[in-house]
Amino acid sequence: MTAVGIDAVEIWTGKLKLDLPETFAPQKGDDPAKYTKGLGLRASSFPDAYEDIVTMASNAAYKLMERKGLEPDDIGRIDVATESAFDNSKPVSTYVAGCLEEVYDEDFHHANKGERKFACIAGTQSIDDAYNWIKAGRNRGRGALVIATDTALYARGDAGEATQGAGAVAMYITEDPSLVELSHAQGYGSADETDFLKPNQQFPSVDGKRSVQVYLSRMREALEDYESVAGDVELDGFEYAPFHTPFPGMVRKAALLAYRHVVRDTEHEDALADEIGRQPRPGEFEDDDAYQEAIREYMDALGDTEQYQDWYAEVIDPTLSISREVGNWYTGSVHIARMSALLEAAEEGTEMAGETLLVGSYGSGAQAEIHAETVADGWKDEIEACDIYDQIEDRYDISFSEYEQVHDRHNHEKRVELEPFTQPEGEFVFDGWGPMNERKYTFVE
Ligand code: HMG
Repeated sequence: MTAVGIDAVEIWTGKLKLDLPETFAPQKGDDPAKYTKGLGLRASSFPDAYEDIVTMASNAAYKLMERKGLEPDDIGRIDVATESAFDNSKPVSTYVAGCLEEVYDEDFHHANKGERKFACIAGTQSIDDAYNWIKAGRNRGRGALVIATDTALYARGDAGEATQGAGAVAMYITEDPSLVELSHAQGYGSADETDFLKPNQQFPSVDGKRSVQVYLSRMREALEDYESVAGDVELDGFEYAPFHTPFPGMVRKAALLAYRHVVRDTEHEDALADEIGRQPRPGEFEDDDAYQEAIREYMDALGDTEQYQDWYAEVIDPTLSISREVGNWYTGSVHIARMSALLEAAEEGTEMAGETLLVGSYGSGAQAEIHAETVADGWKDEIEACDIYDQIEDRYDISFSEYEQVHDRHNHEKRVELEPFTQPEGEFVFDGWGPMNERKYTFVE
């Protein structure tokens, strides 16, 4: 079977940084530890005045094409995943193609373009579409450009404000990929939920606490569905588990549940039994309340064991390093978790070729998807080309009042002028409005 997967990735972060413990927490009257320890976040990325979902997507895509020596003719699809679109008809991918056509001699007239929407899971769904298109042999030897781009803003004062972020991840999907090969097997957990939604509005209506529970339920459903086709997931069957990361504390909760599930009825559960007992089973209790109470106690004890903590430090924590510094990028979030883990592996000199990743995507509304990825031989060159930590370091650190101006500038209902904090160079920028209310872009040398 032909291997299909991600050949190359470029990440573009919004150029501004909001420091959560230092700048945001004092203004909200919060203990900074709520952010660093509770949510697990140090900072959020924000777009500068001349950035938006199109510029971030186009800049990530341009970087990718230049690095890989690609021309427009090499690209048969451009799919953009976003939940921050400003147009209900014209897809962001057409704006991106328009930007790229400013800098290439060829055009993208023979590339299929679209926009995928299902909250944060749409990036993974776009990769799926590309996979199916290539497997069906309809790609004429070309690859697919999949870009996840979002400006993840919440209304000011909403509890979600602490988890904002902005950035884009451009991915090139091909046969015989250099970075990771996707598994054929997938599992889904999907249900009609109203925990987080944007009914024709930019900022989400969100029931934050419930959204956490829905994430966990759908993720568990997806894992069970995945196992029904791929066989039981084993604890040592994967090196890293990159999951959708709205904030690292969310993944901390998901990881504990996943661990309990994966070790049940294995020698790992036996090894823990002396210390914390065996996992409670429903049949052992008089009613569901008693069972749930026993589960809570078991989970608390499990989280404190050395066995669990060592596993978490090796398999989960490395996936969270970028997220901690940038916040939630919605559609891009799980894709920066994958890169985060591989960057750490490269840094530590771990050989990853042939190793497995267990990837968990999620979108509110709600759907989770689990699949596996096999790391490809060319992974290290790809990862060494990734400069996201330099970009993170170079961001302009905004004050709280600057943050409020930036938030207003990116509020679709306002037209607020704002002097940029940074200087664009060799990149696409937002350049004002056209006669049909379209957004206009230009390339700045
Ligand atoms: P909140 O209510 O302000 O925070 O909002 P909290 O009081 O629950 O505190 C957060 C954590 O910090 C808690 O940890 C506290 O205990 C801890 P937990 O108990 O849950 O483990 N904490 C502290 N720890 C140490 N020292 C302290 C301290 N104080 C508190 N001093 C909430 C939290 C997540 C609800 C909010 O940020 C929110 O609404 N976020 C937006 C929704 C969201 O991200 N949901 C996640 C699941 S849904 C999803 O992932 C989809 C999404 O990406 C959208 C999409 O798919 O399109 C959002």
